[in-house]
Amino acid sequence: MNAAGPSFGAPKKTHIIVIGNEKGGSGKTTTTMHLIVALLRLGFKIGSIDIDSRQRSLSRYIENRKNTMTNHGASLPLPQHFVVQRSPFNVLDEAEADERERLTSALKVLMAENDFIVIDSPGSDTYLSRLAHSYADTIITPINDSFVDLDVLANVDGNTLKIVKPSIYSEMVWEQKLLRAKRDGGSIEWIVMRNRLSNIDARNKRFMTQVLNELARRIGFRAAPGFSERVIFREMFLQGLTVLDVMDTGGSASVSLSHIAARQEVRDLLKTLRIPKVDERVAEMRARETGHEASNSEQPAPVTAEVKPSAPAPTPTPTPTPVAAKPPVIGGAPVSAEKEALQVSPAAYKAATRPTEPETEAHESMREATNAPMTSAGSAIRSAAAAALRNASGNLPWRSAAEPTTPETPPSKPSLEKAS
Ligand SMILES: Nc1ncnc2c1ncn2[C@@H]1O[C@H](COP(=O)(O)OP(=O)(O)OP(=O)(O)O)[C@@H](O)[C@H]1O
Ligand SMILES: [Mg+2]
Repeated sequence: MNAAGPSFGAPKKTHIIVIGNEKGGSGKTTTTMHLIVALLRLGFKIGSIDIDSRQRSLSRYIENRKNTMTNHGASLPLPQHFVVQRSPFNVLDEAEADERERLTSALKVLMAENDFIVIDSPGSDTYLSRLAHSYADTIITPINDSFVDLDVLANVDGNTLKIVKPSIYSEMVWEQKLLRAKRDGGSIEWIVMRNRLSNIDARNKRFMTQVLNELARRIGFRAAPGFSERVIFREMFLQGLTVLDVMDTGGSASVSLSHIAARQEVRDLLKTLRIPKVDERVAEMRARETGHEASNSEQPAPVTAEVKPSAPAPTPTPTPTPVAAKPPVIGGAPVSAEKEALQVSPAAYKAATRPTEPETEAHESMREATNAPMTSAGSAIRSAAAAALRNASGNLPWRSAAEPTTPETPPSKPSLEKAS
């Protein structure tokens, strides 16, 4: 083995995705968990690694998921998870060799069994993080939609919005691309995704788009559409759940427009990855959903203000991957895996999740409707939002309870296709 770390040989079956950004709080763990669950729910076997062993947010998210399974009888697909600790050695060379050994042995174990390995990294520059980046096939860098966060990627002239030069993180990614090419001749696809996009800050959003597009050309990444600022992306950490769990197992659990839009944003991220085996599975899933919706449309649409998700896809059934009760720590003793397969019932889901925040959810629905484009899909979103809001009007502080309600028309089912 050399200082660049071992090559795993080619052709390598397992696709490695590293979520990285040296800036803290940019949404790495949130993106990692949603990506893991999205891939699991497409039926893939997933290995995950937490190299942020100080915060362990991803590991906590997965532990919480497992607790929901045991406490509420829920069946949730799980990744095979490892935590890779930093080395306790003080001498730099020894510490780096130790960390290299820890990371590559975790990769080796996970590569034997999984289609994807998804790695969550810390919001700081560490040797482990750099090394993990060099093993990536895809790097995803979430950035908050602000010029403060963009500064990690490039120095931008405040007057002209011209890019002065790439910044530290971009240079680090470039170095890891070189290292990867030298190690096994492979290449790394780099995707930058905007996170916590606001619907109201149109000016900042426009400037960010302009600079990011220019930067993408200059330093070689692809820009993903990204995630909006949504309650649903942050509210289920304690239950270890994501919007995809709610949508796929929802049944009678209530689902808002914000859920549908959030799921679409996760699907758009999958599409941006341009990984053929993912695209194939998504196409199969869409075909099933379309078939299901077509057979539903033969029935008269129910008069309801609640937007229901489509039924869970029958196949492929995600195999719950065994997960250790506590994730095995590389450098510590592995813990035996558990194999339980139970079903999430709506009651279990409701019991496991906190009550939603009606005001914020309602606001999100309204924003969704306000921003929906003037297409038939957009009009479906608006009419469903209107019906939902009419129904919820009693709880809304800005509507008087005495205000007369208009007769309900059956809401059309919102399209799962992103309206353009
Ligand atoms: N799209 C979003 N909408 C709403 N809240 C979000 C969104 N993305 C992230 N958050 C929230 O922002 C905070 C930071 O997110 P997260 O922990 O994923 O960032 P991180 O990059 O992993 O942070 P660190 O660098 O500390 O590891 C969390 O409270 C998370 O719930
Ligand atoms: Mg994190």
